[in-house]
Amino acid sequence: MVVKKSIGVGLMGLGVIGGGVAKVLMGKPDTLAREAGSRLVLKKILEKDLNKHGLLGIERDIFTTQFEELAGHPEVDIIVELIGGEHPAFELIRDALSRGKHVVTANKEVMSKHWSELLAVAQEHKVSLRYEASVGGGIPLIAPFQEDLVANDISAIYAIVNGTTNYILTRMAKEGLDFSVALKKAQELGYAEADPSKDIEGVDAAYKLAILATIAFGTEIKPDNVYHEGISRLQARDFRYASELDYAIKLLAIAKRVEDSVEARVHPVFIPEDSLLAKVDGVYNAIHVEGDLVGKVIFYGEGAGPRATSSAVISDIIKIAQNINRGITSPPRLFFAPGRTVKPMDEIETRYYVRMSVADQAGVLAQISKILGDHAISISSVIQKETDPSAQTAEIVIMTHPAKEQAVQQALKETERLSVVREISNFVRVEA
Ligand SMILES: NC(=O)c1ccc[n+]([C@@H]2O[C@H](COP(=O)([O-])OP(=O)(O)OC[C@H]3O[C@@H](n4cnc5c(N)ncnc54)[C@H](OP(=O)(O)O)[C@@H]3O)[C@@H](O)[C@H]2O)c1
Repeated sequence: MVVKKSIGVGLMGLGVIGGGVAKVLMGKPDTLAREAGSRLVLKKILEKDLNKHGLLGIERDIFTTQFEELAGHPEVDIIVELIGGEHPAFELIRDALSRGKHVVTANKEVMSKHWSELLAVAQEHKVSLRYEASVGGGIPLIAPFQEDLVANDISAIYAIVNGTTNYILTRMAKEGLDFSVALKKAQELGYAEADPSKDIEGVDAAYKLAILATIAFGTEIKPDNVYHEGISRLQARDFRYASELDYAIKLLAIAKRVEDSVEARVHPVFIPEDSLLAKVDGVYNAIHVEGDLVGKVIFYGEGAGPRATSSAVISDIIKIAQNINRGITSPPRLFFAPGRTVKPMDEIETRYYVRMSVADQAGVLAQISKILGDHAISISSVIQKETDPSAQTAEIVIMTHPAKEQAVQQALKETERLSVVREISNFVRVEA
């Protein structure tokens, strides 16, 4: 065993997270060297904007705008990809792996879309590809799933993995704000990007769920297989009704094993107000996992930000450095359980909250109940709350027993065609 005096790190992207990682590499050299067994030395930084070097006091000559100078550097052992986005990050990671460089990335889009190809390249070239920071920022998740929980058959994951939407939902719930106002506040505080669509529409959470569910269930789940629906159609009144019914509303990423198939979906959900996930507020993330041996486990913490995320990135770097020093290669493993498929959204079964505006007259509920009954949907409760005498309308809220998604969607279409129904204002799935 030959312990290297130093291990070279090449960093792609000195943005929010890259800056955080560079600060830790330069700021805690002795602690990191003690854990890694070698000094971790920042050898090259790939950036678009070379003026950034001034910000962190890093000497100018380690910066480059050319990938070749970083990936071709003989003393760069580990390349850390923190430029984000799908392209060119995917191609650069693949290129780095095929040159025999170990790679650490925080890129959920690349990992969720190109997982199997990148892992195969890493295996072929006997190098590591680690991506702990791609889900849940600083919360340890990938390693626990691949190491500490491997003895379990995982049956379910319920996760709050997008801090932006959780922040918005928290303000809507606590202050009765409308969605657009809560979004604006999140943007003012830097919790939502100028273009927040990937967060708001559940795309970001779908990337993360695809990664977690693939590892947890041994089934290759691409983002396209994850049904996703965002939070923008939730209104302040949905939160009022939820609270009255003892529920909270969260954007959950849900993956469940149901016999030989896997459900993978991201959408707003009513969850019991007294559940632990309901108490996760603001930008925090939490991931509830159910395994046959371990039972229920919850991971909770900061899902974003430079300090928390650099904790995960640096620990990946250290694990690779330890393996280099032990003379071990640990390419990522690929395990897919044969025959397991992703369940189409139409076939999932859950409970529903439906809010609708109807004519304020007798017999309306009978007509609606008939349609629901025809689709084998049974009602667990109905509340009629607000009436608008001028428009002669009333608002009713129906909670159903478990029913098939396809049946509910069809029944809602037929209900909306009733002359006594003004509109189906909203529906939200319920996870008890
Ligand atoms: N922010 C978080 O809290 C967080 C948490 C977990 C994971 N992540 C992941 O971490 C990664 C980085 O996120 P971030 O928030 O640090 O993004 P960011 O602040 O936008 O940083 C990306 C940096 O890379 C540079 N860059 C982009 N394309 C490049 C290219 N082709 N060549 C060289 N440099 C390039 C950018 O330069 P310009 O600005 O000039 O384009 C920018 O400095 C993403 O995959 C993200 O999903 C972020």
